[in-house]
Amino acid sequence: MDTRIVGRSAETVALHACLAAERHVLLEGPVGVGKTALARAVCGELGRPLVRVDGDGRYTESKLVGMFDPPAVLSSGYKVENFIDGPLVSAMRQGGVLFLNELNRMPEGVQNVLLPALDEGRIQVPHLGEIRAARGFAVVATQNPAEFVATGALSEALLDRFELVRLDYQDEGEERGIVAQEARSAPDAATIAHAVAIARQTRVDPRVRRGASVRAAIAIADIAARLGGDVLRAAQLALPTRIELVDPSATPMGALVEDLAKKAGVEAHR
Ligand SMILES: Nc1ncnc2c1ncn2[C@@H]1O[C@H](COP(=O)(O)OP(=O)(O)OP(=O)(O)O)[C@@H](O)[C@H]1O
Ligand SMILES: [Mg+2]
Repeated sequence: MDTRIVGRSAETVALHACLAAERHVLLEGPVGVGKTALARAVCGELGRPLVRVDGDGRYTESKLVGMFDPPAVLSSGYKVENFIDGPLVSAMRQGGVLFLNELNRMPEGVQNVLLPALDEGRIQVPHLGEIRAARGFAVVATQNPAEFVATGALSEALLDRFELVRLDYQDEGEERGIVAQEARSAPDAATIAHAVAIARQTRVDPRVRRGASVRAAIAIADIAARLGGDVLRAAQLALPTRIELVDPSATPMGALVEDLAKKAGVEAHR
C-alpha cells in the first residue's frame, strides 16, 4: 500500500524530474522527515520498482552486488545461473530505483562499487562479466544532515554523481494532515493537534539536541486515542526513545516531557 504524500509538492516535482531524467538523487533530511515515504510515492508514480537497502557500517560489497552461491559453484562452477543478484544488480537489470537508506553509514568499499554504476550504468562482476543497467535505473540515497551524523561523510567523487533534494520538517497544518492520515487509532482533531504541537516543541526547546519527527506525533496520537485522549501519558511513552537531550544528567526526561506538553497547551488528564 502506498502512502499518499501530504504537501511536499516542490520536493515531489524535483524528485520526479531527477528520476525521469535518470539522474541519481541524494535525499537529505532528519530522521522521520518523510524521505522513504516520498521516494516510494514517486517510484510508484513512475511505475518503477523500488529495491530497498538499509545501510550500516557492516554492509558489504557482495551483499550490494550479489554473489555466487558457494555450494552451486563447488558442484558446477562459476555459471551465470549460480549468481544470486544483490539489490544493485537487481535494480540495474529491472531498470528500477535502488533506494539506499543511510548511504553515508555504509563502508567506503560499498560506496566505491557504486561509482561506475552511477555514471556509466555498468559494473564489472568477477566471473560474471559486465552488468549493464536497463533504462530507468537510478539510485536514491538518503543521509541525515551532517550535524546529526557521527559517521563519515560521502566522498567527493560520490557526491559529484548525485543531485541533492533537501527535506525539512513540514508546517504544522501539514503535520496534522499526516498524523490524521497515518494514525491507525482514529484520534480526534484535538488529540492530533496536541500530538503535533508536542513534537514541534521538542524541536525548539534548548534542552533538546535532537527533536522528534512527525513519526513521534503519529505515535503519540495513536496511543493517546487508546488512553482516552491522555496526550501527556502518550508523550511520556513515545518521546524518551525519540529525542536526544543536551545534558541528560541535568534534565529528567519525565519533567521535560511534562513541561513540553504544558507549552503545547496539553492539559493534565485525570
Ligand atoms: N509528507 C508526508 N505525507 C504522508 N506521510 C508522511 C509524510 N512525511 C512523513 N510521513 C509519514 O511519517 C512517517 C515517517 O516517514 P518516513 O519513514 O518516510 O521518514 P524517513 O525520513 O524515511 O525516516 P528515517 O530517517 O527514519 O528513515 C511515515 O509513517 C510516513 O508515512
Ligand atoms: Mg526512511
